[in-house]
This record gives sequence, C-alpha cells and structure tokens, in this order.
Amino acid sequence: MIQISDNTQQIQPSKIRKMFNKALEYDHVISFTLGEPDFTASSNVVEAGCRAIREGKTKYSENAGLLALRQAIAAYLHRTEGLSYDPASQIVVTPGAMGALFLALKVLLNPGDEVIVNEPCWTNYVQQIRMCGGVPVSVKTNAQRGFDLDVSAIAEAVTDKTKAIILNSPCNPTGAVASTETLLQLAELAQKQDLVILADEVYKHILFDGRTYTSFAALPGMKERTLVIDSLSKTYAMTGWRIGYAAGPENVIRNMVKLQENVSACAATPCQVAAIEALEGPQDHLKYMVDQYRLRRDYVMRRISEIPGLSCHAPAGTFYAFIDISQLGMPCEEFAMKLLEERQVVVVPGTAFGEFGEGYIRLSYATSMQCLEQGLQELEEFVRSHKTEGDPA
Ligand SMILES: Cc1ncc(COP(=O)(O)O)c(C=O)c1O
Repeated sequence: MIQISDNTQQIQPSKIRKMFNKALEYDHVISFTLGEPDFTASSNVVEAGCRAIREGKTKYSENAGLLALRQAIAAYLHRTEGLSYDPASQIVVTPGAMGALFLALKVLLNPGDEVIVNEPCWTNYVQQIRMCGGVPVSVKTNAQRGFDLDVSAIAEAVTDKTKAIILNSPCNPTGAVASTETLLQLAELAQKQDLVILADEVYKHILFDGRTYTSFAALPGMKERTLVIDSLSKTYAMTGWRIGYAAGPENVIRNMVKLQENVSACAATPCQVAAIEALEGPQDHLKYMVDQYRLRRDYVMRRISEIPGLSCHAPAGTFYAFIDISQLGMPCEEFAMKLLEERQVVVVPGTAFGEFGEGYIRLSYATSMQCLEQGLQELEEFVRSHKTEGDPA
C-alpha cells in the first residue's frame, strides 16, 4: 500500500460534498447543498467562450492570465470599488478563487504560521491553510451579533506567529456582511500587528436591502496589506468555468504567478476570453439573479419563521440561510442525515463550517422557488414529527 503524506492525512474531506454524495444514493431528492447559482452564464458569455474555442484560442496563456482579461479585471475593480491595480504586475488570473487562495497561502506561509479564520466559515480555508503548512486559528462569530466579526476576539487570538486574517464578507455560510465600523477596527488591528488580510469577495455583488459593498482594500492604508480574492463563479454564474483572480501588492502577485507555472500553468484560456465578455458586457443578468435571490431569501425567512423551533438571522447577502436548529436538541449532522433519509431533503450540517457551526444547518436557496416550496414543506413536517414530548413548539 502506498503511504500517503502526513500533511495530506490531516486534511478533512468536505462535509458539503459528503452530503452531496450521500444524496446521490436516492432517486428523487430536493437539494439545498451546493453553493452555486442554479442559473447558467448569460448567452453572450457562452457565445464568447464557444467562439474562443472555434477560433483556436485554446493554447496556454501567460501564467498571470491573458493581459486583456487582467485589464478587464483592473477596470472592473476600479468601476465597482474605486480600486486601482496595474494589470501587468498586480493581478493574477487563477482557476477559481480557490486557486487564488491556495497560491496566496502558499506564497505567504512559513511552516507553523497562523492564519485567523472567522468561524463558522467556508472550511476550504482551514484545509488550504493546513495544505500550505500553516495553522488555522478559529475565532467565533455568533448570531447575537448578526455573525459580524468580533474584532476584539480576533485581537486576542493574534500571536507572534499570526501572519494573516481571512475576511469573507458577505460570508458563506452565515450570509453576514461586515459593517464598515467593524472593517475599520480590523484595519486598525492589521496595521498595529502587521497582518495581511485575504479578502475573499466572491459574494460581494449578492447583497440585499440596498446594501453596498465596502472593499477592505479601499480603506485607508489597507491596499498594501490586502489581497483581493474574487472570481466570476457566483457573480456571473460561472462556477464550472473556473475563473478567479487575486489583486494585490506586486511582490505577492509576482510570486503567485511564479508558483502558478508549477500548479496549473494558467486558467483555461477559452474561459478567460469568456470572462472578458462577462466583465465588459451587459450586467443585467447579475441584477436579475440578485433580484431572484432576494425573493427567495424573503420566502425562506417567512417559512422558517412559521416552523416552530427554527429561527434564522436574515442573510444580508449570499444565497445561504444559516438556520438555528438548536432548540430541537438534535446534533446538526444527525438532523441533516435524518432529513435526507426520512424526507429526501438535503441540507448541510453547520459543523461542515467548523465546530462553532453546531446547532445550525445551511440551506442554499440558489435553487428554484418550486424546490424551496416543496423542500421547506418537507422540512416543516420533519421538524414537527421530531419535536420532543411536552415541547411547547
Ligand atoms: C467563501 C467562498 N470563497 C471561495 C469559493 C470558491 O469559489 P471559486 O468557484 O471561484 O473557486 C467559494 C465557493 O463556494 C466560497 O463559498
């Protein structure tokens, strides 16, 4: 038997994927698991990708990505966040935001360096930090504070080994959006402790109720210590196209480009061409999708409020509802498994986002209204059938 490395053995498989795979054992399931739009990319983007293939734009690109795409990204960051980056030296195109995060951590971390994550969080962060020899340090966010970052708790978690903090706003799984006041406190801490901020902005356009996005890199003095990590996956419904990027200080980007040669060489070239069209073409598809997510969010909130024993802090962005099931007294993994077995409805247990996720399930409403209606009806019947004797609910 071939021996697997110690490093790989400490990497945990994704519990989101575990639920997804388990669901494949059933013929008909209503799935609220994966974090990807149910929409496809708009037709102009699809056509641009197909045209690129027909025209033979199918060779390797520069390791940093097509210059035309980096220019489009620079223009987009300027248009949407007022940020200025040099496309030639401060932007790298990667296979998804995951690719950018991995290269960034690889470039930044020495063995034993600590990276703070705000939990519940997308656990790929934790695994990637470990894959890069670092040590993830979890700081809890909680529902009482609307899952906003707790900067004083983050400050207490900082040690002389802390290298970076991962900021994910709007947040997967909680849907929370960090307030500007919180971001300013975080900026002060980053300055004081000389920390790098990895700002994962993949949900920044999926915001509700008139909210606007405050980019961490746009705060005074933060651009030189922030890496903006983003992708077209959620904003343009292009998850499978695998186009992401990082924008930040030239020395970090240059080293990410150097490593990219040895990992993937570049993101897929026809997809890069399509990404230019997504960024520069009409933006009405995005507006349509966000309107749909908001309608669905409102529906999910209303239905959850009607189910005794469940509650949910209204997500300010993303397409996730992080539902508090703690009143039912059932561990969240058991809850998710029984819900699948008894009702063929798939949700993700909160512990897929770290131990602080116990007592919650995540429901992705990036799915049709019809699925939401049926699935939430099943969820209600499931909860009612499991409420304990004498429970006032
Ligand atoms: C917070 C967060 N960051 C990054 C990603 C990865 O995005 P991409 O498809 O661009 O790799 C996800 C995907 O679910 C996510 O939830």
